[in-house]
Amino acid sequence: MRRYLVAGNWKLNKGPAAGAELAQAVSNLLQGRELKGDVLVCPPYVSIPAVSAVAAGNPVMTGAQNCADQNEGAYTGEVSPSMLKEAGARYVIVAHSERREYQRETDDSFVAKINLIHQAGLKAIFCYGEKLEERKAGQAQAVVKAQLEGVLPRLESADAYNTVLAYEPVWAIGTGETATPEQAQEIHAYSRQVVGDLLGATVAEHMRILYGGSCKPGNARELIGLPDVDGGLIGGATLKAEDFVGIIDGAEAANG
Ligand code: 13P
Repeated sequence: MRRYLVAGNWKLNKGPAAGAELAQAVSNLLQGRELKGDVLVCPPYVSIPAVSAVAAGNPVMTGAQNCADQNEGAYTGEVSPSMLKEAGARYVIVAHSERREYQRETDDSFVAKINLIHQAGLKAIFCYGEKLEERKAGQAQAVVKAQLEGVLPRLESADAYNTVLAYEPVWAIGTGETATPEQAQEIHAYSRQVVGDLLGATVAEHMRILYGGSCKPGNARELIGLPDVDGGLIGGATLKAEDFVGIIDGAEAANG
């Protein structure tokens, strides 16, 4: 059985004070509950220490949304995985479609980042997914395969413990349009097959593959209940404590 992971990607929202407040509200709602899975929030860098301080001693872990592809040196404006670990992060998101698009990040930097994340003892959440025009052209599987093949075989020590995948169809991110359960399950099962070809059947069987794209309390149970969906990477709906916990409730029910 794969343990679910519900991860909130706060994107460019919630500075230290507002972030600590939101983390506290989530923590209060979860107080005393024994969860069947893992819960993570990924605030902006500067909010990681404040959010981690709130999260200490409760089931909510802290992660980062990005990291440098170098550990130290003359790289102005960058933050390394080992610094993120020191600040309280346990996971780092890599290759989000917004960074692929706006920062023009490439496979080479994803490989470097994930290797450093693993060396720091952190877990990587590697995002991938097709754009609308690619889906319309019938290329969703081909795009997903290329994205996985461009990175996974080049990692030094990827396994199902230190690496999480997040399938995020670009057309579903922040649009209110969610992949149907059939669409999600198809790509998740296909992704698992590709992982099996690249990293072996045992890793594929244990690797968690999250779904991301307009996930909310109303659809979380159905999506996370799909055979090859092991949780969610969620943006907008995680900025309200009640909605985030509603998604966690969906994951709990799906894993009941
Ligand atoms: P939304 O949940 O806002 O669609 O964002 C998904 C996402 O990009 C998570 O990384």
